[in-house]
Amino acid sequence: MKIRPEIRADAPQIERLHMEAFGPGRFAKTAYRVREGGDFVQALSLTATHEERLVGSIRFTQILIDGKEGALLLGPLAVFRDYSGHRCGLRLMNAGLDLARDQGYELALLVGDIAYYEKAGFKVIPSAQILMPGPVDMARMLSFELQPGALERFAGMVSLG
Ligand SMILES: CC(C)(COP(=O)(O)OP(=O)(O)OC[C@H]1O[C@@H](n2cnc3c(N)ncnc32)[C@H](O)[C@@H]1OP(=O)(O)O)[C@@H](O)C(=O)NCCC(=O)NCCS
Repeated sequence: MKIRPEIRADAPQIERLHMEAFGPGRFAKTAYRVREGGDFVQALSLTATHEERLVGSIRFTQILIDGKEGALLLGPLAVFRDYSGHRCGLRLMNAGLDLARDQGYELALLVGDIAYYEKAGFKVIPSAQILMPGPVDMARMLSFELQPGALERFAGMVSLG
């Protein structure tokens, strides 16, 4: 499996991947709505391929937290079901987070399952420190410090950068 920057020609297959992974209800989710209208950071969008077939994708969106820059929302992250279990998701995350750190971002957030994302180093955010503009289960609000001590420098409401 190879990981490379996303290119324009990947878009239709990524759309199919999101449909398979998240279903038609995905647009109603808070994390999706926050990203809506926000541009993905092209320099952080990565595609996983296996023998030329696109098997996974990760994207990030720049966000503000109480108006402050330096944070990203991780997602969507998805891997085709018939390619799961090859560490593709973890490798995409590790590569994306490394790039984000190198580009000077401080904090990555996501709404997801701690049982999975702790494998990449994500931790649950202390209750109500960072808020999303919509209903979110606080046990699923996770963060990853790209720079030491970054989490204590951010608090408040998430909005689009
Ligand atoms: C979640 C997803 C990205 C994982 O991709 P993947 O390439 O199959 O996963 P990986 O191979 O990187 O998984 C690494 C490890 O995490 C485990 N894992 C995978 N999904 C998990 C989950 N939801 N909860 C706990 N552990 C999980 C794997 O079993 C594996 O365990 P191991 O370390 O013991 O081998 C992929 O299954 C997917 O696209 N799912 C649909 C979209 C989705 O639900 N995304 C959000 C998840 S909250």
